[in-house]
Amino acid sequence: MGLHGMGGVGKTTLFKKIHNKFTEIVGTFDVVIWIVVSQGAKISKLQEDIAQKLHLCSDEWKNKNTSDKAADIHKVLKRKRFVFMLDDIWEKVDLEAIGVPDPTRDIGRKVALIFRKNKPV
Ligand SMILES: Nc1ncnc2c1ncn2[C@@H]1O[C@H](COP(=O)(O)OP(=O)(O)OP(=O)(O)O)[C@@H](O)[C@H]1O
Ligand SMILES: [Mg+2]
Repeated sequence: MGLHGMGGVGKTTLFKKIHNKFTEIVGTFDVVIWIVVSQGAKISKLQEDIAQKLHLCSDEWKNKNTSDKAADIHKVLKRKRFVFMLDDIWEKVDLEAIGVPDPTRDIGRKVALIFRKNKPV
C-alpha cells in the first residue's frame, strides 16, 4: 500500500491511525514496525531502527556490514507475520537491501509506504 502527497496534508496522521489499529488487533500480526525514513536516510540507519524494534541491536550487531545485517533482519522477519510502515520517504528505498522480505498474502505480511513526493516513486 502506498500513500503520497505534499507536506502537511495529513499522511502521517492517517497512517498513525492505521498503525494503532494494527497494534490493537491481537493475534493477527507478530510485529508492527513503524520507521520514519526522512530525507537522505542511509540503509544502515534504517537497519538499526528496525533492529531496535526486533531486539537484534547489540554492539556486536552494530559492527556487522550492511549485507550481514540485512540477512539477520530477513531471517527474523521471514518467520513473522509483520506490518512494516515507512513514513516520510523522499527517495527510492531498497527493501531487499535492508532485509525486509516481500509482502505475502498467505501468511499475512503488509508493507505500507508514505511518499513525500507529489508523484509516486
Ligand atoms: N483530518 C485532519 N483534520 C484536521 N487536521 C488534520 C487532519 N489530518 C492532519 N491534520 C493536522 O495537519 C497537520 C499536518 O499533518 P501530518 O503531519 O499528518 O501531515 P503529513 O502529510 O504527514 O506532512 P509531512 O509530509 O510534512 O510529513 C498536523 O498538525 C495534523 O494534526
Ligand atoms: Mg508526515
